[in-house]
Amino acid sequence: MTPSKRIMKLDLVAGTYKPADRQFQDITSVKITDLASLFSESFAGTVDDEQETLEEWCEEIRAFSLNKYGPFINDASFVVTHDDMPIAAITCSLFKNVPLITYIVTHPNFQRQSLGKELLNKLIASLKSLQYTTVYLVASNNNLPAISLYESMGFQSFDYNWDAVLNNSPLNLKTQ
Ligand SMILES: CC(C)(COP(=O)(O)OP(=O)(O)OC[C@H]1O[C@@H](n2cnc3c(N)ncnc32)[C@H](O)[C@@H]1OP(=O)(O)O)[C@@H](O)C(=O)NCCC(=O)NCCS
Repeated sequence: MTPSKRIMKLDLVAGTYKPADRQFQDITSVKITDLASLFSESFAGTVDDEQETLEEWCEEIRAFSLNKYGPFINDASFVVTHDDMPIAAITCSLFKNVPLITYIVTHPNFQRQSLGKELLNKLIASLKSLQYTTVYLVASNNNLPAISLYESMGFQSFDYNWDAVLNNSPLNLKTQ
Protein backbone atom coordinates (compact mmCIF):
# COMPACT_ATOMS: atom_id res chain seq x y z
CA MET A 1 0.00 0.00 0.00
CA THR A 2 1.32 3.47 -0.85
CA PRO A 3 1.73 5.54 2.30
CA SER A 4 -0.65 8.50 2.35
CA LYS A 5 1.76 10.79 4.15
CA ARG A 6 5.34 11.92 3.71
CA ILE A 7 7.91 13.52 5.98
CA MET A 8 9.39 16.74 4.64
CA LYS A 9 12.61 18.30 5.84
CA LEU A 10 14.34 21.63 5.35
CA ASP A 11 18.00 22.27 6.09
CA LEU A 12 18.07 25.64 7.82
CA VAL A 13 21.81 26.13 7.43
CA ALA A 14 21.91 26.15 3.63
CA GLY A 15 19.47 28.97 2.86
CA THR A 16 18.88 32.55 3.89
CA TYR A 17 15.41 33.39 5.12
CA LYS A 18 14.20 36.91 5.65
CA PRO A 19 10.90 37.39 7.47
CA ALA A 20 8.48 39.70 5.65
CA ASP A 21 8.00 43.21 6.92
CA ARG A 22 4.72 42.51 8.66
CA GLN A 23 3.36 42.04 12.17
CA PHE A 24 3.51 38.44 13.40
CA GLN A 25 1.89 37.90 16.75
CA ASP A 26 2.47 35.42 19.49
CA ILE A 27 -0.01 32.60 19.05
CA THR A 28 -1.14 32.94 22.65
CA SER A 29 -2.25 36.54 21.96
CA VAL A 30 -5.45 35.39 20.20
CA LYS A 31 -8.50 33.62 21.62
CA ILE A 32 -8.54 29.84 21.28
CA THR A 33 -12.08 30.02 19.87
CA ASP A 34 -10.95 32.43 17.11
CA LEU A 35 -8.00 30.17 16.32
CA ALA A 36 -10.35 27.16 16.24
CA SER A 37 -12.56 28.97 13.69
CA LEU A 38 -9.49 29.73 11.56
CA PHE A 39 -8.38 26.08 11.61
CA SER A 40 -11.89 24.84 10.89
CA GLU A 41 -12.50 27.20 7.96
CA SER A 42 -9.02 26.65 6.51
CA PHE A 43 -9.25 22.85 6.48
CA ALA A 44 -12.90 22.71 5.33
CA GLY A 45 -13.14 20.89 2.01
CA THR A 46 -9.42 20.05 1.83
CA VAL A 47 -8.00 16.52 1.67
CA ASP A 48 -7.09 16.86 5.35
CA ASP A 49 -10.63 17.84 6.40
CA GLU A 50 -11.72 15.45 9.16
CA GLN A 51 -14.93 17.41 9.86
CA GLU A 52 -13.72 18.45 13.30
CA THR A 53 -16.16 20.53 15.31
CA LEU A 54 -15.09 23.88 16.73
CA GLU A 55 -14.95 22.27 20.17
CA GLU A 56 -12.65 19.55 18.81
CA TRP A 57 -10.38 22.20 17.29
CA CYS A 58 -10.30 24.03 20.65
CA GLU A 59 -9.30 20.75 22.30
CA GLU A 60 -6.58 20.11 19.69
CA ILE A 61 -5.16 23.62 20.08
CA ARG A 62 -5.12 23.30 23.86
CA ALA A 63 -3.53 19.84 23.52
CA PHE A 64 -0.65 20.84 21.22
CA SER A 65 0.06 23.96 23.27
CA LEU A 66 0.22 21.61 26.29
CA ASN A 67 2.87 19.48 24.53
CA LYS A 68 0.78 16.79 22.80
CA TYR A 69 3.41 16.51 20.02
CA GLY A 70 6.39 17.27 22.30
CA PRO A 71 7.34 20.57 23.93
CA PHE A 72 5.45 23.38 22.20
CA ILE A 73 7.86 25.95 20.70
CA ASN A 74 6.03 29.16 21.42
CA ASP A 75 8.90 31.22 19.96
CA ALA A 76 8.37 29.57 16.56
CA SER A 77 4.54 29.67 16.50
CA PHE A 78 2.81 32.75 15.11
CA VAL A 79 -0.44 34.23 13.90
CA VAL A 80 -1.21 37.01 11.45
CA THR A 81 -4.32 39.03 12.25
CA HIS A 82 -6.64 41.25 10.23
CA ASP A 83 -9.21 43.43 12.01
CA ASP A 84 -8.14 41.72 15.25
CA MET A 85 -9.01 38.26 13.94
CA PRO A 86 -6.43 35.55 13.14
CA ILE A 87 -6.26 34.93 9.38
CA ALA A 88 -3.18 32.70 9.22
CA ALA A 89 -1.13 30.68 11.70
CA ILE A 90 1.86 28.36 12.03
CA THR A 91 2.63 26.13 15.02
CA CYS A 92 5.74 24.19 15.98
CA SER A 93 6.68 21.55 18.56
CA LEU A 94 9.89 19.77 19.48
CA PHE A 95 9.01 16.24 18.29
CA LYS A 96 11.59 13.47 18.76
CA ASN A 97 14.06 16.24 19.58
CA VAL A 98 13.61 18.06 16.24
CA PRO A 99 11.40 21.04 15.39
CA LEU A 100 8.19 19.85 13.71
CA ILE A 101 5.68 22.19 12.06
CA THR A 102 2.40 20.79 13.36
CA TYR A 103 0.03 23.17 11.53
CA ILE A 104 0.11 25.90 8.92
CA VAL A 105 -3.18 27.46 7.87
CA THR A 106 -4.34 30.47 5.89
CA HIS A 107 -8.01 31.41 5.86
CA PRO A 108 -9.49 30.77 2.37
CA ASN A 109 -10.26 34.49 1.93
CA PHE A 110 -6.55 35.28 2.29
CA GLN A 111 -4.91 32.39 0.45
CA ARG A 112 -2.43 32.91 -2.42
CA GLN A 113 -1.30 36.21 -0.91
CA SER A 114 2.03 34.79 0.36
CA LEU A 115 0.94 34.51 4.00
CA GLY A 116 1.92 30.83 4.18
CA LYS A 117 5.34 31.61 2.73
CA GLU A 118 5.82 34.56 5.09
CA LEU A 119 4.85 32.48 8.12
CA LEU A 120 7.33 29.78 7.10
CA ASN A 121 10.07 32.39 6.65
CA LYS A 122 9.29 33.83 10.08
CA LEU A 123 9.34 30.37 11.69
CA ILE A 124 12.63 29.49 9.95
CA ALA A 125 14.30 32.72 11.08
CA SER A 126 13.11 32.09 14.64
CA LEU A 127 14.33 28.49 14.68
CA LYS A 128 17.70 29.60 13.29
CA SER A 129 18.01 32.18 16.04
CA LEU A 130 17.29 29.35 18.52
CA GLN A 131 20.24 27.46 16.91
CA TYR A 132 18.19 24.73 15.25
CA THR A 133 19.57 23.46 11.96
CA THR A 134 16.61 21.58 10.47
CA VAL A 135 12.82 21.68 10.53
CA TYR A 136 10.40 18.89 9.65
CA LEU A 137 6.73 18.49 8.85
CA VAL A 138 4.34 15.75 7.82
CA ALA A 139 2.23 16.30 4.72
CA SER A 140 -0.59 14.29 3.16
CA ASN A 141 0.53 13.21 -0.31
CA ASN A 142 -2.73 14.54 -1.75
CA ASN A 143 -2.44 18.01 -0.19
CA LEU A 144 -1.10 19.64 -3.34
CA PRO A 145 -1.38 23.29 -2.19
CA ALA A 146 0.61 22.50 0.95
CA ILE A 147 3.22 20.37 -0.85
CA SER A 148 3.65 23.06 -3.55
CA LEU A 149 4.23 25.63 -0.82
CA TYR A 150 6.77 23.45 1.02
CA GLU A 151 8.62 22.50 -2.18
CA SER A 152 8.77 26.17 -3.21
CA MET A 153 10.55 26.80 0.12
CA GLY A 154 13.08 24.01 -0.51
CA PHE A 155 11.63 21.21 1.64
CA GLN A 156 12.62 17.71 0.54
CA SER A 157 10.33 14.67 0.76
CA PHE A 158 11.05 11.38 2.53
CA ASP A 159 9.08 8.18 3.08
CA TYR A 160 6.98 8.23 6.24
CA ASN A 161 9.58 6.50 8.44
CA TRP A 162 10.85 8.67 11.27
CA ASP A 163 13.62 6.27 12.30
CA ALA A 164 15.09 6.22 8.79
CA VAL A 165 14.80 9.98 8.32
CA LEU A 166 16.23 10.96 11.70
CA ASN A 167 19.01 8.38 11.75
CA ASN A 168 20.30 9.72 8.44
CA SER A 169 20.17 13.23 9.71
CA PRO A 170 23.23 14.23 11.72
CA LEU A 171 22.31 17.91 11.33
CA ASN A 172 19.05 17.59 13.21
CA LEU A 173 20.48 18.38 16.62
CA LYS A 174 20.79 21.81 18.14
CA THR A 175 24.29 23.08 17.62
CA GLN A 176 24.70 24.11 21.24
C1 LIG B 1 -1.38 25.34 2.40
C2 LIG B 1 -1.79 26.76 2.78
C3 LIG B 1 -1.36 27.03 4.23
C4 LIG B 1 -1.06 27.74 1.82
O1 LIG B 1 -1.27 29.05 2.32
P1 LIG B 1 -1.20 30.37 1.41
O2 LIG B 1 -1.09 31.53 2.34
O3 LIG B 1 -2.30 30.38 0.43
O4 LIG B 1 0.17 30.12 0.64
P2 LIG B 1 1.04 31.22 -0.14
O5 LIG B 1 0.15 32.29 -0.71
O6 LIG B 1 2.17 31.67 0.72
O7 LIG B 1 1.60 30.33 -1.36
C5 LIG B 1 2.99 30.28 -1.66
C6 LIG B 1 3.21 29.30 -2.80
O8 LIG B 1 2.73 27.99 -2.45
C7 LIG B 1 2.13 27.36 -3.61
N1 LIG B 1 0.67 27.23 -3.41
C8 LIG B 1 -0.07 27.72 -2.39
N2 LIG B 1 -1.38 27.38 -2.54
C9 LIG B 1 -1.46 26.67 -3.70
C10 LIG B 1 -2.54 26.06 -4.41
N3 LIG B 1 -3.81 26.11 -3.95
N4 LIG B 1 -2.26 25.39 -5.55
C11 LIG B 1 -1.00 25.33 -6.02
N5 LIG B 1 0.08 25.91 -5.40
C12 LIG B 1 -0.16 26.57 -4.25
C13 LIG B 1 2.41 28.30 -4.77
O9 LIG B 1 3.69 27.99 -5.27
C14 LIG B 1 2.43 29.64 -4.06
O10 LIG B 1 3.13 30.65 -4.76
P3 LIG B 1 2.33 31.55 -5.86
O11 LIG B 1 1.04 32.00 -5.21
O12 LIG B 1 3.29 32.67 -6.12
O13 LIG B 1 2.07 30.64 -7.02
C15 LIG B 1 -3.33 26.97 2.58
O14 LIG B 1 -3.70 26.51 1.31
C16 LIG B 1 -4.18 26.29 3.64
O15 LIG B 1 -4.45 26.84 4.71
N6 LIG B 1 -4.64 25.06 3.35
C17 LIG B 1 -5.53 24.35 4.30
C18 LIG B 1 -4.78 23.89 5.54
C19 LIG B 1 -3.66 22.93 5.19
O16 LIG B 1 -3.83 22.02 4.40
N7 LIG B 1 -2.48 23.14 5.81
C20 LIG B 1 -1.32 22.30 5.58
C21 LIG B 1 -1.34 21.10 6.47
S1 LIG B 1 -1.20 21.55 8.19
